[in-house]
Amino acid sequence: MQNAQPLVKTANALVAPGKGILAADESTSTIGARFAALGVENVERNRRDYREMLVSAAGASEFISGVILYDETLRQNCADGTPFVELLEERGIIPGIKVDTRAHPLAGAPGEVVTEGLDGLRDRMAEYYEIGARFAKWRAVIAIGPHLPSSYCIEVNAHALARYAALAQEAGLVPIIEPEVLMDGDHGIDRCYDVTQDALREVYSQLAAQRVMLEGTLLKCNMVLSGKEASNRAEQEEVAERTVDCLMRNVPAAVPGIAFLSGGQGDDEATDNLRTINIRGKEVGAPWQLTFSFARALQSTPLQIWAANGGAPLPAQKAFYHRASQTAAARNAA
Ligand code: G3H
Repeated sequence: MQNAQPLVKTANALVAPGKGILAADESTSTIGARFAALGVENVERNRRDYREMLVSAAGASEFISGVILYDETLRQNCADGTPFVELLEERGIIPGIKVDTRAHPLAGAPGEVVTEGLDGLRDRMAEYYEIGARFAKWRAVIAIGPHLPSSYCIEVNAHALARYAALAQEAGLVPIIEPEVLMDGDHGIDRCYDVTQDALREVYSQLAAQRVMLEGTLLKCNMVLSGKEASNRAEQEEVAERTVDCLMRNVPAAVPGIAFLSGGQGDDEATDNLRTINIRGKEVGAPWQLTFSFARALQSTPLQIWAANGGAPLPAQKAFYHRASQTAAARNAA
């Protein structure tokens, strides 16, 4: 590793006390589906206006350390011609970039997926650094089902995550390493614990094998939860206990921070769980910062308000500020 210091500094800044990450890196088709549900046309101007509303919200930078962008937004200008990257830098927010090219069916494993995007990744990341990105994200998706996941699915996804992470560090970008165990299904919390543990063990084994410097990485993972359709979903206290236990057993202390995804939980559910997880983490002396990298749990309400007000920014910005302040308070709970 040539110069590790900037990576370590950026990783620590992203999880600085009181702050967390906004994931605004939905692909054009994903943001299109969210717009369609609210009657908003999926055109470049609307995508720009919506994301500009978020990143320019007054006061949001008190709580948001970094924003993960999609390729289009990283290259885009705001309505007044200011590049998005410049606007973020002016506000003291670190620009990040999603670099995977999403999950695709995994050959020989019906119902399972592998995240692609390694071809040409070195050059793409060098360009993203030039544009101004200082961290990156790659999301692997692991589904739970009666016979899923296979160890094959976990292995190939962890291998790809580590290859991405090594290349990101070479390019000067802090890799956010995201093995997401989905909450779809009726499984109990024990099953989520076991699968999350298997995934984390394989990820950290691959990261070690591929010489990734853990101090210059962040983990983005799911909370340990019952499946969405489970009959008796575990309560907050149990979620916190199982999540922190799973992380304590499987995530090295050299990692500066863990930023949870919201994964389809409601806004308040995700925030409440983050609060209890932080309290539990402090009780057991967890060595990492425990924060958020939410997309839906930060954006759902502001997006609805933005759409309902014909794209007027102010009411939606107030809602975004409120959600960000609540989430940051949860992340600080002791
Ligand atoms: O990669 C996943 C997203 O960045 C987090 O999205 O909080 O809606 O699960 P979510």
